[in-house]
Amino acid sequence: MRNPPAGTTEIRGRVNGGIVHDSAAKQAAGEAHYIDDIHEPKNLLHLYIAQSKKAHAKIIKLDVANVRTRPGVVTVLTAEDVPGINDASPIAGDDPVFTDGLVEYVGQALFAVVAETLEQARAAAAHAVIEYEELPAIITVEQAMAAGSYVLPSREIKRGNARDAINAAEHKISRTFEVGGQDHFYLEGQVALALPGEDGDIFVYSSTQHPTEVQHNVAKFLDLPDNAVTVQVRRMGGAFGGKETQGAWFAAMAALAAAKIGRPAKIRLDRDDDMVMTGKRHDFVVKFEAGFDKDGRVSGAEFILASRCGRSVDLSASINDRAMFHVDNCYYFENVTITSHRCKTHTVSNTAFRGFGGPQGMLAPERMMDVIATYLGRDPLEVRKINLYGKKTRNITPYQMTVEDNIAPEIINELEKSADYVNRRVAIRAFNETSPYLKKGLSLTPVKFGISFTATHMNQAGALLHVYTDGSVMINHGGTEMGQGLYIKVAQVVAEVLQVDIDRVKITATRTDKVPNTSPTAASSGADLNGKAAEAAAQTLKDRLITFATAHYNVAEHEIHFLPNRVRIGATEITFTELVQQAYLNRISLSATGYYRTPKIHYDAETLTGRPFYYFAYGAALSEAVVDTLTGENKITAVDILHDAGKSLNPYVDLGQIEGGYIQGMGWLTTEELFFDAEGNLKTHAPSTYKIPACSDRPAIFNMKIFDAGENVEETIYKSKAVGEPPLMLAISAFNAIADAISSVSNYRLYPDLDAPATPERVLKAVQDMADAARQTPVVEAAQ
Ligand code: MTE
Ligand code: HPA
Ligand code: MOS
Repeated sequence: MRNPPAGTTEIRGRVNGGIVHDSAAKQAAGEAHYIDDIHEPKNLLHLYIAQSKKAHAKIIKLDVANVRTRPGVVTVLTAEDVPGINDASPIAGDDPVFTDGLVEYVGQALFAVVAETLEQARAAAAHAVIEYEELPAIITVEQAMAAGSYVLPSREIKRGNARDAINAAEHKISRTFEVGGQDHFYLEGQVALALPGEDGDIFVYSSTQHPTEVQHNVAKFLDLPDNAVTVQVRRMGGAFGGKETQGAWFAAMAALAAAKIGRPAKIRLDRDDDMVMTGKRHDFVVKFEAGFDKDGRVSGAEFILASRCGRSVDLSASINDRAMFHVDNCYYFENVTITSHRCKTHTVSNTAFRGFGGPQGMLAPERMMDVIATYLGRDPLEVRKINLYGKKTRNITPYQMTVEDNIAPEIINELEKSADYVNRRVAIRAFNETSPYLKKGLSLTPVKFGISFTATHMNQAGALLHVYTDGSVMINHGGTEMGQGLYIKVAQVVAEVLQVDIDRVKITATRTDKVPNTSPTAASSGADLNGKAAEAAAQTLKDRLITFATAHYNVAEHEIHFLPNRVRIGATEITFTELVQQAYLNRISLSATGYYRTPKIHYDAETLTGRPFYYFAYGAALSEAVVDTLTGENKITAVDILHDAGKSLNPYVDLGQIEGGYIQGMGWLTTEELFFDAEGNLKTHAPSTYKIPACSDRPAIFNMKIFDAGENVEETIYKSKAVGEPPLMLAISAFNAIADAISSVSNYRLYPDLDAPATPERVLKAVQDMADAARQTPVVEAAQ
C-alpha cells in the first residue's frame, strides 16, 4: 500500500506528494508490531505495580513479606532494591520510581511484584501490609493558590502598562474560567520489555517518545553507564505527549527486574492503572481582563494563568512557559501582562499533551474576543480581525519575537469565504429565533503556534544512513513514530535526495545505539529536525558518490545528474545500484551520518524573551454547534478547516494530523472530563466514565484543506511546516460555537460563563444562568 489511490492527489515527487503512511496497511490488518506483540522471550517475568491509596501520606509500614510467598512470585521490588538513583524525572530529580517513604498522589508506585504471570503478580500485590499516616492534601488549583503551593516560582511577561491601559480604556471586561485536563488515551498503554545481556547490559523495548531519556533513567536507576543500556522503539500506538517523560519509570522497573533476576521482564499497564498512574494535560484556572475601544481594539490585556502541575516538576516549566507564549495567539496586545502560577497539588504529575500548554493559553484570547464582541454587539470575527498582528507594524509578540510570517489574515479571509461565514451567521440567527429549544452556534477561530522546543538545546537531531551494495537504503534517526507519519516523511526526504523509489528506503526502529543523545519527538518538530538530519546524511553520501564518479568517469561535477533510480554521468547512464557497486569496489564508504540544529533561535529563560520559535504554523477553523437547551446535550455538526502545513511533505499524512488534531481538541473541550474527588481519587479512569470522541462524534460535515499558498519563509525541510500539534487548537472554534449557541438565549446580549469541557451538565447550567441573567439585565443596559 505504498502508492496513493489513483486520482486523489497529484504526486509531484517523493516529497510534497501523497504517499501513504508506511504502517497504514499493517495497522489496518493488525500486522504492525507493538511492544506487546513482540514474541515473548523464554522465561519472561511480569510486573504489577502496587499503588498508593492516599493522596498525601507518610508510609509508616510497608511489609511485603506475605507478598513474596504468594504463588508464582519471584521477587518484590521496593526502593531498597534500587542500586542507583531512585528517580525517573526528566529534569528536577523529584520523581521517585518507588516511594521513598512519602506518597504524594493516589496511584503513586509503592512497590512492584515480579511473578511468572501478570495475574499472579496482581493477586499477590493485595497481600502487602501498608500503613499510612495521612497528611493534608491539596487537590485543586484553588486550594494550591490559597496555600501558596507551587512546584516552581511564578513567572511574568510584561510589555507596556496593561493596568493603566485598562483603566484608561473606554470599555473593559474581565472573566475567569476553568479549562480541564485531558487523558492521553493512547490505544497502546505504557509498556516496556527489558532483556538482560552480558556484563550487566540491558536492552529495553520501551513505548517512548524519548528513547535517550529512558536510556539515561534506566542507567541512572541501575547504576550503569549509558553505554550499557540500549533502548529501542519501532512505533507507539499513540503517545500525544504522554510518553515524552512518563514511560521512563516503567522501563526502569522492568529493567530492574531483569537485572536483578537475570530474566526478561515485561510491564504493561491496564487502562485503569495507566489513567490513574500517569500524568495528563494540565488543567488551568485562567483570568483575563481587557480594556478596548468602541471597535473592540484591545489597548490593554492582563492574563493570569494558574495550572495544576501535580506532585512534581516534570515538564511543567516549559509547558507553562508555552502557555504564556500563546495567550497572544494571532493578536497584538500592546500593553500586556501575563502571569503564570505553577501549582503543586497532591495529584499525579501532569505532563506534555499535544500543544504543550499552548491550547490552554490560547483559549483565553479566543474567549476574550467573543466576550468583547458580545459586549459591543459586534460580530466576533470583526473584533478578531481588528486585533490581528500586522505585517510590518504591530508585529512583535509580548516575548519580543517579531512575527515575520504572518499569514493569519489570508487564512482567515479565505476560510471566511470558502465556509460562507457571513450567510451562515445570518441563517443561524434566523434559525434560533424560531427554534425554542434547539439553539445553533457558530465560531471561526484562528491558530498561530510557535514551532521549536522552547528549551533551545533540544532543537537538534541526528541520522544514520547506509546504502548496501544491492542499492537498498537504510535510514535511522532520532525521531520516534507514534502514528504521526514521521518515519514515512523522513524516508521520503532520503528518497528525494538520492532519487530512488521510496520502497528502496528501509525504515528502521529508533535505537539509542544507532543515533545517540537524541531529543524527544515532541514540539511537532520531528520532521523538521530529523528530516533535516536525514537530508544531511543523504547529501553527504550523494556528494561522496559524485566525487567518486567525477574521478572514475573523468567528468565534471555538473555533468552528473541523479535521475529516478538512475544516474547520468556525462554521456553514460547507469543505475543507482551500479554506481553504488562501483563505489564499493573502489573502497568508498557507503554509510553516513547527518546532523542538524535549528538556526536563529535563542531565548532567555530568565526574562522569557527572545526568539523561542523558528517560525509559526497557522490555521483557522469554523465550527457549527447545536445545543439542546433543555438537556445541555450538544454536538458539533459541521466544521471547515484551512490549515497551513507550509509546502506539505505529505498531504495524506498532514490531513490525517489535521483531522485527528481537531477531533482530539474537540474531545478535550467538550466531553473528556477528568474528575478528582476531594481525596484525590480520579473517578474517571476508564472509557465508561471518561468519554473520548467516537466515530459518531465526528462532525457530519467535515471540510478540510491545506492552505495552498503555504510555504515556509524559513529554510525548513523542503519548505514544509510542522503539523503535529497546531490543529488541536482549531477545536477552540468548537467550544466557542457551543458558547455562541448559549449566548442566543440572551439574544446575544450576554456571553456565557462556561468552563471546559462543555459537558451537558455545564452547558445546561450555563443556559440556565444565562436565562436568569438575561431576565435581570434590561435590554437598555446592554452596551451598544
Ligand atoms: N499523531 C498520532 N497519530 N499519534 C500521536 O501520538 N502526537 C502528537 C502529534 N500527532 C501524536 C500525533 C504530538 S503531541 C506531537 S508533539 C507530534 O505528533 C510529534 O510528532 P512530530 O514532531 O513528528 O509531528
Ligand atoms: N514542546 C514539547 N516538549 C518539550 C518542549 C516543547 O516546547 N520543551 C521541552 N520539551
Ligand atoms: Mo507533543 S505534547 O510535544 O509530545
